[in-house]
Amino acid sequence: MSSLAVLHASQLVTLIGPKRPRVGTELSELGIIRDGGMLIHNGKIEKIGPSAEIEKNVGEEEIVDAGGRVVMPGFVDAHTHLVFGRNRLDDFERRARGETYEQIAKAGGGIWSTVEKTRAASELDLLTQAKKHANWFLRCGTTTVEAKSGYGLTVEDELKLLRVMRQLKEEVRLEIVPTFLGAHAVPRELSPDEYLDVVITEMLPRVTAEKLAEFCDVFCERGYFNIDQSRKILSAAKKLGLSLRGHVDQLTNSGGAKLMAEMGATTADHLEQTDEQGIAALKKANLQPVLLPGSVYALGSGRYPRAREMIEAGLAIVLATDFNPGSSPTPSMPMVLSLACTQMKMSPAEAITASTVNAAYSVDRGARIGSLEPGKLANFVIFDCEDYRELAYWFGFQQTHSVYVRGKCVSMSGV
Ligand code: NIG
Ligand code: FE
Repeated sequence: MSSLAVLHASQLVTLIGPKRPRVGTELSELGIIRDGGMLIHNGKIEKIGPSAEIEKNVGEEEIVDAGGRVVMPGFVDAHTHLVFGRNRLDDFERRARGETYEQIAKAGGGIWSTVEKTRAASELDLLTQAKKHANWFLRCGTTTVEAKSGYGLTVEDELKLLRVMRQLKEEVRLEIVPTFLGAHAVPRELSPDEYLDVVITEMLPRVTAEKLAEFCDVFCERGYFNIDQSRKILSAAKKLGLSLRGHVDQLTNSGGAKLMAEMGATTADHLEQTDEQGIAALKKANLQPVLLPGSVYALGSGRYPRAREMIEAGLAIVLATDFNPGSSPTPSMPMVLSLACTQMKMSPAEAITASTVNAAYSVDRGARIGSLEPGKLANFVIFDCEDYRELAYWFGFQQTHSVYVRGKCVSMSGV
């Protein structure tokens, strides 16, 4: 196992702080050490501090000179659809001509068209495509992703997707948190009630028996799963020991945020249409909102979630990419940070907290990743800039210099 001494970060953005998700003004406290450094042993952080102090403790460690660049925890992307067949270029062109997400789905595009391509793909094909995408994430500075199934919609195809994720974990350095999203859409061959029955009586028991997922998610939306159907699926998943997340209030305000609060979920995701009552319900039940501005941008809707109100209400906000072939084809957290600041009026510091330590708590890994603190995994990124605000300021290109998972360099683009 590697031993490293990282020296001379212009800013070592530690995010050291309370051992829980950050709220309110805490979101702006990045715990920056100027000219900072770290000692890393056996893939874990042993010591952080000013470079001069770290240098005194250097023995056999390999020296990584950050050269006056920013060093940060790797991003934790808490909402992705990592495994799917091919792409949705036709949808993309139709949207450019002015059609909406719902119109395109009705006309044969949308989730269903990815389901057809995903069902037709072998496990090996899917693994090959997912490996390529996993490397995109690493290159953008993301070291952990939550990843959902949901493009299979039969027992065997959903299990196939989750098994691909399990295999992927063995073959790439990106860390993966698996989520079962069987209730992503109703397959053409079944009625909504018939499919609900398959999800509850066949899929969920197999997924949990094979320990293929940690979370269960549902797309609660007009034309997909309504509140009652979503409640049934989430209750069944909870009984089987899964923690809960949900796609809610994305296209319409259906009361999805309230449902997730009622269910005691870990997160409620999207929330573009959520109102004050929804925000109050999330606060009361202590849920983390996962905001996905990449999908608002790519769908061209312009309706971003009310991040400032959520922060003011005291919610432990999270930002994620929603990486998927339809509504958000980006693996880039820096792009999401840019959108959060320009479109949702979050500060760069708030955006960084929301995409590292808060995101880590939202995937139940707050004690192991998300900040640079002794005892945590040495998942960190050297960015080719001097000030953390540059991450959200410059946009549209890759700013990573090098990326480390458990103390090992997994991507190097800087010279
Ligand atoms: O999070 N909203 C539902 N699921 C995805 C879109 C998936 C797709 O279009 O393929 C989302 O936006
Ligand atoms: Fe999604």
